[in-house]
Amino acid sequence: MQMTSFRKIVTLGRQSLLPGNFHHSLLMVTATRWFIAHSPQVPSYPNTLSSLVPHWTEILKKGCVADAEINVEIILLYMLKKSVRGNLQNEDTDSGKVSLLRKSYHQHVSTEFISEVNELCRKRAQRMPVQYVIGEWDFRDMTLKMVPPVFIPRPETEMLVELIKTSDHLSREDEVKFLEVGCGTGAISISLLREFPKASAVAIDSSMDAVNLTIENSKRYHCQERLKTYHHHLDTTCPEFLSVLPRFDFIVSNPPYIFSKDMCKLEPEISRYEDHRALDGGPDGMNVLRKIVRLSDYLLKPSGMIWFETDSNHPKMIKEWLENEPDLDVKHLNSLTDFNQRPRFVQLCYQPSSELS
Ligand SMILES: C[S@@+](CC[C@H](N)C(=O)[O-])C[C@H]1O[C@@H](n2cnc3c(N)ncnc32)[C@H](O)[C@@H]1O
Repeated sequence: MQMTSFRKIVTLGRQSLLPGNFHHSLLMVTATRWFIAHSPQVPSYPNTLSSLVPHWTEILKKGCVADAEINVEIILLYMLKKSVRGNLQNEDTDSGKVSLLRKSYHQHVSTEFISEVNELCRKRAQRMPVQYVIGEWDFRDMTLKMVPPVFIPRPETEMLVELIKTSDHLSREDEVKFLEVGCGTGAISISLLREFPKASAVAIDSSMDAVNLTIENSKRYHCQERLKTYHHHLDTTCPEFLSVLPRFDFIVSNPPYIFSKDMCKLEPEISRYEDHRALDGGPDGMNVLRKIVRLSDYLLKPSGMIWFETDSNHPKMIKEWLENEPDLDVKHLNSLTDFNQRPRFVQLCYQPSSELS
């Protein structure tokens, strides 16, 4: 799996939507810390990064920002990367970033550089997610543009892409057609289009900001020709623009899935800055998910798949729901776990009764 990015350590506030769900790739950050701790003990002169890190770390800690030092380092790396863009071949690799930070740590930087770092750190101190502060974030092998309030892709979603990529029913050479419901930044659709060079996709989102961002990110990765993006709020009826299209091989969605009662428990980074319509899945977190399943008769080819990312309670709930809905031609195939061994992904299969007889 391609989950080695330096930035993957930090997602939002205390990491992802699920409590305690830390991403594992702490290694690069730990390595940077080691380099810094073991670099020659030069005093912290003003106008050097070595003076900015402790200064802002202290302020962020006081503001209860989790992983304060890492956040400051991410902001510094972003600024350094911006200022050396074009001069460093490997600045986008983890080791490139670490060595860039190490090399620059005790060097003098301009007052403009420092005032921009201060501005960005101030935003972070107000609990703006670091992804919005720097306006970009890594997803698998891509760096996508991030704009508030469009939902910031979480590391678990990389697993969802990986599961689809490695599933038995798809091959890289297939001319698959898929639909994504709720595309956000476009992370899932763009990744899949890059994995399946002959695939094409339709991505919909009820937020115009998300639609615009998906289009922009798809252009960044040169797959806009294969991705049709629509501003649409999926409800109980199949919209005409979808019903006239050929049926899809699969539907993928990371729908809003937080139980409404849990919305008040979110970290300030999420509750203040991200679109609540991207998060709140209704009383049982399954409002949008159910709508997608109920529309499979109009959208999917026989034996077509539905892939969901969900809350860890949902795989069991979805299985039970489908067992109690014999009229639905959708069957539960698999529930799969994330890197913390929590059931987080569901694979369903559309099997119309006419095809079975
Ligand atoms: C959890 S975010 C997922 C975004 C992106 N796919 C990702 O994984 O990073 C859910 C997205 O669904 C969109 N959304 C919510 N309800 C929707 C609906 N009924 N129809 C279409 N999109 C919807 C939200 O605007 C949001 O962008």
